[in-house]
Amino acid sequence: MIKFFNILALLVVFSSCERDSAIVDDPFRLSIPNGFPSPTIPEDNKLSWERIELGKKLFFDPILSMDSTISCASCHKQEFAFADNLAITPGVQNRLGSRNSMSLTNVAYHDFFMREGGVPTLEMQVLVPIQDHNEMAFNIVSVAEKLNLDSNYVKASLQAYNRAPDPYVITRAIASFERTMLSGNSDYDKNLLNQSELNGKELFFSDRLACSSCHGTFLFTDHGIENNGLYEVYEDSGRYRLTHLQEDIGKFKVPTLRNIELTAPYMHNGSLETLEQVIEHYAEGGKGHFNQSELITGFSISEEEKYNLISFLKSLTDEEFIQNSFFEE
Ligand code: HEC
Ligand code: HEC
Repeated sequence: MIKFFNILALLVVFSSCERDSAIVDDPFRLSIPNGFPSPTIPEDNKLSWERIELGKKLFFDPILSMDSTISCASCHKQEFAFADNLAITPGVQNRLGSRNSMSLTNVAYHDFFMREGGVPTLEMQVLVPIQDHNEMAFNIVSVAEKLNLDSNYVKASLQAYNRAPDPYVITRAIASFERTMLSGNSDYDKNLLNQSELNGKELFFSDRLACSSCHGTFLFTDHGIENNGLYEVYEDSGRYRLTHLQEDIGKFKVPTLRNIELTAPYMHNGSLETLEQVIEHYAEGGKGHFNQSELITGFSISEEEKYNLISFLKSLTDEEFIQNSFFEE
């Protein structure tokens, strides 16, 4: 069977049981993992093959960067669940920012983006890396000009959005492709947990560890913005950058833990290298920043429990997602 159809199914006729799908009017329907709700698709950017294909082409194309060296995929790699395995991934001319690349797993369900949560839509987010000095250091108008010189892009753009390549098309096409990055076929989802993973699951959802109070829901994030006590003094002030409120210093978007095994190193700056280090951080009860969440209080945990908890976190890895040939360049 062609893997492509695992992710997207051409919907010619839909049966009655599918009528409650939020995107039922679309000519194309995402193949939504079992037990997941339908993501909300913006009215002005319904999904279609043409849009997704164009977005995919753009996602992998370094034409989006100043010197045509860096694509979105340079920092968001399928094998790492569309994150990267470096603490900081260099952009054009080997420039280094200060933040760890984020996984794009299930971004279709998110209501805001970036570590401080300052960007409200996937469409708008596209502008950020294109313009960021340390990432692509270009601008979207210049990208559009270059795309207009390429007859393949002009044709694909007309087919997808009935207009030549421009910022409207670029942002919407890439967002459409990102919405196909659905991951919900891990061993956890398939109820294939062994005893160690089951014990780890119990710990994860226990009041003692409290992991699920922030990393809850089917996405393993509650979409909160929290200070998890990583530092006593934060070099990167997190959400404070956006709001300039003292109470937002050190607050960052709660990341999904789906595919967490693949997205090391961890935290906003990639400062923790292993899941073991992450658990030790929480067990120690954080560094006591004045904004640290009250849920981070520390706990004692045996070596066996640690092993079980890590086994559970690894059961959230979705091999089908990272091996799906649809996502290959
Ligand atoms: C040089 C590396 C780099 C490149 C190139 C890059 N990104 Fe990112 N991406 C990051 C980093 C780092 C973050 C976190 C940034 C922050 O919070 O300031 C991020 C965050 C994101 C997020 C937010 C995810 C979330 O859950 O909030 C999305 C979506 C995203 N990138 C998509 C893209 C797209 C689309 C492109 C290409 C147009 C792209 N990125 C290019 C490194 C990169
Ligand atoms: C108060 C909310 C909160 C609680 C409770 C919490 N976390 Fe987190 N977690 C966060 C935030 C916020 C981040 C991101 C911090 C950053 O970017 O610096 C994070 C990051 C992580 C990361 C790294 C994710 C990545 O992609 O870099 C892992 C793994 C993790 N937490 C696991 C756990 C485990 C296991 C527990 C329970 C022992 C737990 N968390 C409890 C809020 C919380």
